[in-house]
Amino acid sequence: MSKIIINGQKELTGEIEISGAKNSAVALLPAATLCKTKSTIYNVPEIRDIDYLIKIMEHLNCKVTVDNGAITIDSSKLKNKPIPEDLSVQMRASYYFMGALLAKFGKVEMSFPGGCNIGARPIDIHIKGFQELGAHVEIIKNRYIITAKKLKGKKIYFDFPSVGATINLMLAASGAEGTTIIENAAMEPEIVNVASFLINMGVNVRGAGTKTIEIDGTKNVDNGVVDVFPDRIECGTYIILGALIGKNLRIRGIIKEHIGALLMKLTEIGVNYEINGDVLTISKCEDIKPANIKTQVFPGFPTDLQQPITTLLTQAKGVSNIEETLYENRFKNTYDLNRMGAITNVLTLNKLEIKGPRKLKGTHVIATDLRGGASLFLAGLIASGTTEIEQCDVILRGYSNIVEKLRAVGADIEYVE
Ligand code: EPU
Repeated sequence: MSKIIINGQKELTGEIEISGAKNSAVALLPAATLCKTKSTIYNVPEIRDIDYLIKIMEHLNCKVTVDNGAITIDSSKLKNKPIPEDLSVQMRASYYFMGALLAKFGKVEMSFPGGCNIGARPIDIHIKGFQELGAHVEIIKNRYIITAKKLKGKKIYFDFPSVGATINLMLAASGAEGTTIIENAAMEPEIVNVASFLINMGVNVRGAGTKTIEIDGTKNVDNGVVDVFPDRIECGTYIILGALIGKNLRIRGIIKEHIGALLMKLTEIGVNYEINGDVLTISKCEDIKPANIKTQVFPGFPTDLQQPITTLLTQAKGVSNIEETLYENRFKNTYDLNRMGAITNVLTLNKLEIKGPRKLKGTHVIATDLRGGASLFLAGLIASGTTEIEQCDVILRGYSNIVEKLRAVGADIEYVE
């Protein structure tokens, strides 16, 4: 079984370059199947989710070429085939083929998508949206068969600003007749990244990044080119790392508007950093104050940084509180953090208390989900002794070249097959 092994307490200095955003890239690849011929996506991160998406695209008869972070997709021979369950369950983002194939062929058949086990994660908002555009949805066990003779643009209201549903509906609406208006849309940067790709390939999209998005459907979709935005969650994770054990650690590739809530919280708890262009420089904070954090949709504090910042708060002088509003099962990392010496108490399903500061000690731990795994590698990097993270492949689903990046700044870390 593969493991990440860390010998902790090595001061980290030098530069970490942020890769393309997982949650943008995993939507941009399925979006590329909308194109009649070719499209190219630059700055794609080297992560496991992308490998599985490429397998799905090849299954659908796309020709996919990977060259140094640039992925070219030739979808001129795209075939509409059911997506096998063993591929679709590998990640959450396989659901973006629902919107894309529905727009292109008026039919899609696939199993319920997988992804981190951090809550129930239903896709009812996606399904209701497809139905409002005129699709018929049949669900047999966990198999979805979605068909539409014709998709027709409509005004749709989301009960919750879901990232996945916003992107999926933007994809489906690209192939609909007329204009679709999504009200109470998600505003995360990933939405803007996908919208810019759609616009580049000929779809008229207005308002991405706001609560109201309008999409004019068209049949002339081709030649898309896009750069994946830098990963705001990878960036936030490494900034937190800098506050824990950095020495003038430079994080290159930041877009400060994408990480505004994290930066404000860090300032509140006494962490200093400097930003010069797209480089943030940070050193270990010797006097971390406790904080109260509530996760929210963008531009609020991101749920995906909740578990990483928990590790930072184990070092704060006093009691911190976290309220997780997005997922009902995102404190599983705290079991192993406590085994390493932290004191955290899950008060209710979505409330966590952290008592600091605590010295952490390396031991065997298990990464139960991607960001939970991140909180453990952060803990391992500041702990005394050796930390062995089992089930570490879940971390490789989202952090591009993590071992190489951390080694280059002085960490003692290795990946063992
Ligand atoms: N929700 C519903 N019904 C739906 C859709 C969502 O009830 O039809 C609920 C979810 O159960 C959850 C909340 O709404 O409680 C947020 O879900 P959302 O749809 O916004 O998230 P997602 O599309 O499933 C993406 C990222 C997540 C990230 C969230 C929030 C991808 C592949 N995943 O998930 O990333 O946490 O947005 O920003 O883009 C991660 O990277 O570790 C990760 C989990």
